[in-house]
Amino acid sequence: MKPLLASTLAILCLAATPSHAQTRKTNAPAQILEITTADTALVLLAKPGAPVLFRHYGAKTNDPRAFLNKGYRDDLEAYPALGGANFANLALSLTHADGSLTTELVYAGHDTRALDDDRQETIVHLKDTLYPLTVDLHITAFKTENVITQRAILTHHEPAPIRVENIASASLPLQAGSYYLTHFHGAWGHEMQLTEEKLTPGDKVIENTRQGVQTAMSDNPSFMLALDHPADETSGEVYAGALAWSGNFKIIFSPDELETLHITAGMNPFASARILAPGESLQTPDMILTYSATGRGQASRNLHDWARRHSLAHGDQPRPVLLNSWEGAYFNFDEKTLTTMIDNAAALGIEMFVLDDGWFGNKYPRDNDRAGLGDWQVNNKKLPRAIAYLADYAVSKNLRFGIWIEPEMVNPKSELAEQHPDWIIKSPGRDIPQRRNQWVLDLANPAVQDFVFKVFDDTVSLSPNITYIKWDANRPILSPGSTHLSAGKQTHLWQDYVTGLYNVYDRVRAKYPNITIQLCSSGGARVDYGALKYHDEFWTSDNTNAVDRVLIQYGANMIYPPIATASHVSASPNHQTGMTLPLKFRFDVASSGRLGMELQPKDITGDDLAFAKTAIQNYKQTIRPLVQFGDLHRLVSPYANDGRAALMYVAKDKTQAVLFAYNLHHFLPRGFTFAIKPRGLDPAKTYEVTDLNLNPKTQKSVFPGNNKTCTGDYLMKAGINLAIRLPHDSAVLYLVEKAAKK
Ligand code: DGJ
Repeated sequence: MKPLLASTLAILCLAATPSHAQTRKTNAPAQILEITTADTALVLLAKPGAPVLFRHYGAKTNDPRAFLNKGYRDDLEAYPALGGANFANLALSLTHADGSLTTELVYAGHDTRALDDDRQETIVHLKDTLYPLTVDLHITAFKTENVITQRAILTHHEPAPIRVENIASASLPLQAGSYYLTHFHGAWGHEMQLTEEKLTPGDKVIENTRQGVQTAMSDNPSFMLALDHPADETSGEVYAGALAWSGNFKIIFSPDELETLHITAGMNPFASARILAPGESLQTPDMILTYSATGRGQASRNLHDWARRHSLAHGDQPRPVLLNSWEGAYFNFDEKTLTTMIDNAAALGIEMFVLDDGWFGNKYPRDNDRAGLGDWQVNNKKLPRAIAYLADYAVSKNLRFGIWIEPEMVNPKSELAEQHPDWIIKSPGRDIPQRRNQWVLDLANPAVQDFVFKVFDDTVSLSPNITYIKWDANRPILSPGSTHLSAGKQTHLWQDYVTGLYNVYDRVRAKYPNITIQLCSSGGARVDYGALKYHDEFWTSDNTNAVDRVLIQYGANMIYPPIATASHVSASPNHQTGMTLPLKFRFDVASSGRLGMELQPKDITGDDLAFAKTAIQNYKQTIRPLVQFGDLHRLVSPYANDGRAALMYVAKDKTQAVLFAYNLHHFLPRGFTFAIKPRGLDPAKTYEVTDLNLNPKTQKSVFPGNNKTCTGDYLMKAGINLAIRLPHDSAVLYLVEKAAKK
């Protein structure tokens, strides 16, 4: 690792004394530490021997020295610990080796270095005034994407172990009159449901306390926050945050009596105290933050750009259109079932086939979810010519081949559970509760980490033609206990599970940098930026019903990028909901994310077959580059309860765009239309507008201006009217720049 360079940070040294009443006075002047991106700034006030104070996070100003002025709150520490004058929303609480509960952190210097053209890291060094204990705040500014991340690293050299009760990634005090919190609540099949509420006095907490795995199922570790007004797509100040952590998390929002909102985010301290030996360090995950002065649309685009460039595997590469075998075959297949699916997929123009659950286990065949999990040998009866035959077959049909694993879990009815009972998470002397007939392996144990890595390694080695892995995880930790951890360190399990998982991910990516990996946990129960950086995409939900998917994907794409949002056309009636939907609606919804299919392709016949081929071709040729690499503009929210939704993607150079519109359940009388105002176009450009994916029955466009040209200015001001009058009508319009007609 390169040594840190001397500070190049914009530091303004004025001989002014900060107004902080509790600040220990030293002769050294206070300095402004301004950490900036293209449009935003995080401003701290630092004075040797005194706490580092928070001054500002938001739009960048042209006069950072003014933050030295008096008149700011003098009790807002950048990283408040239990001690001194801090009492609310602490970032750090611990018990020192001598039993003392208090920690008082003061400024001890900082370093700054450019990591590359885009990233600048500032490390703010804090030290306790009494004990040999330090906290380094690692703050990285991603200039182009207007994102700032922060994590904390605690180290101590006390004579005996300390006990860390709580260590947050970041603590942020924001000041405004009122605050509107958007968070993403959910459940299985119902993930990322957008909920907006005005914050009132008292703590508002979004968290996962004790699932350990599947921690994003009921609330995602992310949020948006609008100041003074409910969030709007194009106006107003909006913050967005996401914690890069795949374990229990806690984000607290506390408005205080002085109209400051304290946001504290980090690993959940619940039953997670850590015993830290002298010389040991403890590192938190990154808290990811962005700010937009022009509404939440820009906040999402900042995060999408950032993710594609910095926190998603292969963020610059197009994703293939795939067929996944799950809803088409479940556990009931043999070689012929799969080769027929591959044949049909090839005929449709699909680019990859993924074999889901059910391909392994011999002593305990994986013919249902009650047996075989953990026994990663190819099932000889179902697949006598093994995986290599299938993978080669797919490649011979010009398809890539992918395969499913769930390496962190085990069925009680498996050879693995018989051989390694000590690898299973359990509380000693008690029965292990089951969920989906399975148990969780103890990833805190390095031997289990080796096993999980080997499952991945051995699976990929089944054929050189395997280029995609779907990594699933289908139950939470219940009744926690680890035979690997000592009696005094059982509370380490929650965090050690996640760091053990990341250790395996690191090894996987070191050996397989090019493989595509899907992040799956009964759908979207592990969608977070901690895991996502190792993956190419996530399985958004087990609910493949397109009407529900409009809401789930709309919520997911507030924070996570559409390129990673696996979105599959499934059968009608839908297997989860029983709802019957036109194939066009199902395609038009799935095409607004990473398009795939999750059905038995031989069941698509007649007009539908021709339509499916055209829709896949349209996606590959026209829609994919825009959805996967363009800018998302949300136009009409499905959460507005008027039965409609619309969104569009605009190419970075604004020469092309694609607009999706859905009638979710509303009936419009004849003559009425769905009026939509596009956004993000270049007003000076002239666009030709084409209705793609025409209804296979009518072959008629729902857009009166189909194939005509008009300016971006006209489109954005006058809008477009679509005759999607019936429930589950939909439209996909393609806009491309044309030379203006004379
Ligand atoms: C849960 C996943 O979300 C599904 O897509 C499928 O892979 C099943 N597990 C298989 O058991």
